[in-house]
Order: sequence, then structure tokens, then C-alpha cells
Amino acid sequence: MISKEQLDLAWNIATHDRLAQKYERMHGEIYNDFEQNRLKNELAAAIALIETHSEAKVVLDFGCGAGNLTRHLSNLQCEVIASDISSGFLKLVASRKYSQRVVTIQLNGVDLSNVADESVDMVATYSVLHHVPDYLAVLSEFMRVLKPGGVVYIDHEPSEAYWTGSAVYEQFKAEMNRKVPRDYKKYLVLSNYYDWLIRRFVNPRYHREGDIHVFDDDHVEWQKVVASLENLGGKILVSRSYLLYRRQYCQEIYNRYCEEVSDMHVLVMRKQYGG
Ligand SMILES: C[S@@+](CC[C@H](N)C(=O)[O-])C[C@H]1O[C@@H](n2cnc3c(N)ncnc32)[C@H](O)[C@@H]1O
Repeated sequence: MISKEQLDLAWNIATHDRLAQKYERMHGEIYNDFEQNRLKNELAAAIALIETHSEAKVVLDFGCGAGNLTRHLSNLQCEVIASDISSGFLKLVASRKYSQRVVTIQLNGVDLSNVADESVDMVATYSVLHHVPDYLAVLSEFMRVLKPGGVVYIDHEPSEAYWTGSAVYEQFKAEMNRKVPRDYKKYLVLSNYYDWLIRRFVNPRYHREGDIHVFDDDHVEWQKVVASLENLGGKILVSRSYLLYRRQYCQEIYNRYCEEVSDMHVLVMRKQYGG
């Protein structure tokens, strides 16, 4: 009998293999200058918090996808272990040139059994935890492979405010929607109708793009992430919510709301010596 976890993993692998080549084109909420600059600065600040005293900083990019973090980390002088469950993504990442050493490894989706204890200076992950069947369990794997003084960087998961909702956030979205022209191209993509049909009528929990923990009653809970990391000997250094900048956004409207509302969260933690 195949378990739900195995089904989720198989779905995730198949979906991401299929999307690998077009992933960057599809994801304007990630691949836009504003978000890429924010990410570069956050990563640089997180690297500066590493206290492992290693000469060359080795970073595990967990769920590397098309190599979004891998490229930034390499530009920031880190050696990178780009890891993913999808061989399609790993092939894409391996085919590209970087300024520092980049190796790829395939994960089993559950643990980091092919990564040695205390072997990396940083584990960085962006928009991945909601794909992992037991996302809290994988945090203990992050801590196991991290050297003391190393840093965990988790980014691009919805903030608590996103799930609780607020009148101001709704106002922000309404104003943005009025200003930004509708993207009619999505109505020409046949597979979107298939997704819509399944989500609406057949299985409301159908996970498009392999999403698992993206429901009101089952999402990545930051309080649990913080508590788990602290229990495992980590010290939280950054825990901040922010408003994601999507490619189609109007900068003026975004600037007016970005201090007041958030929909994403970033967390940086350091593994304590003797922790
Ligand atoms: C939304 S994409 C994010 C990709 C990349 N981190 C980025 O910044 O664009 C999610 C990634 O997580 C990977 N993934 C899905 N399930 C996973 C699991 N159980 N363990 C590790 N990676 C997983 C997918 O193959 C995909 O590359």
C-alpha cells in the first residue's frame, strides 16, 4: 500500500521534472529585479552571520529548483551543494556556469541521508518547506548537517498575517488589481482549465505544482518552525515578515503598503556551539 507521503513525493517529482525548463519564465513573483535584489541582500546578510570559521563557506541549497539561490550564493563567494528531488531541475542547474564550485545531489524528499553530519556552513531554502511532507522533521536534518556556528536561512513561505488576513491587505490587493492590467494569457493555457476543474469539483486539495501545506488548516506554521529550531539548539537571529513584490506590481502602490502589510516571511537561525 502506497502511503500519502509517497504519493506526495511522487507527485512533487513528476510536477517539478515537467516544469523545470519553463520554471523561471512562469514565476514572475520570484524572477523580478525587486525580489532578486531583496534576496541577494538577505543572503549576504545571512552569510555574514555564519560563525563557523571555515575558509570557504559551503552552502546546501535545499530544493534548489532552477538554481535561484545557487546563483546568488555562488556570486556571494560560497561553494554550493544544489540539492533537489527533481532530476530535471538538477540537470538544469548542472548545465550552468558559476563563479564558485557547485555540485548537485539528488534528495529522497524525506531526509538528508546523503549529506554528512556537520559538513556545511549554511542551509538555505526558498519556497520549499510547503512541498515537504514532514517539514518539521526536515529541520532536524538541517541542524544535523550544519556545523556549529552555521546558519539556516528559510525564505518565501507565507507569513502568519497572510493566513489571518486583514482589511488593509485586501485593500492593497484590490488597489493593485484595479491598476495592473489583467493577465489574459492564462486563459489560453489549456492545462489551467484542467487544474481549475480538479481543484473546484474533483479534489479541492489537488496540489498544483506539488504544493502540500498551502491550506488554511495545513500550512507552514512559523511558530512551530521557530520552536523546533530553538529546541534543536538554534538561536533565531532574523524572523521578519515582508510584502512580496510580484513582477506585474505597480511600485508606487507597493511602496505605500509594504510597511503596513505582509504576505511572506524570512527566518535566519544560527546553530549554537555545544547546542
Ligand atoms: C517552488 S520550487 C522552489 C525552487 C527554488 N528554491 C527557487 O528558489 O526557485 C520548490 C522546489 O522544491 C523541490 N522539492 C519538492 N519537494 C521536495 C522535498 N520533499 N525535498 C526537497 N525538495 C523538494 C522541487 O523539486 C522544487 O525544485
